[in-house]
Amino acid sequence: MPASHSSYDSGDEPRPRHVAIIMDGNGRWARARGLPRVAGHRQGVEAVRRTIKAAGEAGVEVLTLYSFSSENWRRPRAEVDELMGLLRRYLKSEIADLHGRNIRFRMIGERDGLAADILTLIDEAERMTGSNDAMTLVLALNYGGRQDIARAARNIAESVHRGLLRPEAVDDELFSSYLSTAGLPDPDLLIRTSGEKRISNFLLWQCAYAEMVFIDKFWPDFDADDLAAAMDEFAGRERRFGSTANGR
Ligand code: IPE
Ligand code: IPE
Ligand code: MG
Repeated sequence: MPASHSSYDSGDEPRPRHVAIIMDGNGRWARARGLPRVAGHRQGVEAVRRTIKAAGEAGVEVLTLYSFSSENWRRPRAEVDELMGLLRRYLKSEIADLHGRNIRFRMIGERDGLAADILTLIDEAERMTGSNDAMTLVLALNYGGRQDIARAARNIAESVHRGLLRPEAVDDELFSSYLSTAGLPDPDLLIRTSGEKRISNFLLWQCAYAEMVFIDKFWPDFDADDLAAAMDEFAGRERRFGSTANGR
């Protein structure tokens, strides 16, 4: 077993409960090989499969994958169609397998804008896997952190307006329960591939104290060893949450 796997079974090292990944670099992976961008997206699906398996084996409780952002609609129509086609095929072919591995599936993001048949596949997947408890796989689809926060604010305002909620009751804990990630722990570890060092409207509220690891590899090349290395890096970090070292 490679040394980089050592933290998996040591038991006493801090491990992230929730790992969130910005899967970036599919287009550049393809361009480096003289292939069309879609070839990178196709290869990216293989990396998704590998990563779900590796995260499950590493004891991750929640794995969130940024698959399509609210802003990705700005891409050429043909590329958006390809991405939606890959998503459709993925949901059709993989959900039974995820269910067989006791993985719970959940989607976060705006439903408006996604095709009706994709929404049906998502609903079926969430229903089928709803009581699984090995790991939760969250797909962020048509997701934007600002949109998530704005929707929560809108729903809170509506509850207050209807007299169901007092304004004084709105604190960070209550706010979290109105976000799409309600009930999930905040990400402890945020990984972004492709060398870019930005958050690109991902889980803005939820990543308040996430440890960030940036990897130069493009997403289609990401594998179990990269996940293990990121988790090792996480284990070596000192998290303070605004306190002093070791709370002293
Ligand atoms: C990530 O790869 C996939 C999505 C955003 C859907 P990109 O398509 O962003 O690839 P680059 O960043 O252009 O290389
Ligand atoms: C972020 O990547 C979105 C996903 C990985 C789904 P982008 O490639 O869209 O981000 P920018 O445009 O480089 O910030
Ligand atoms: Mg990109």
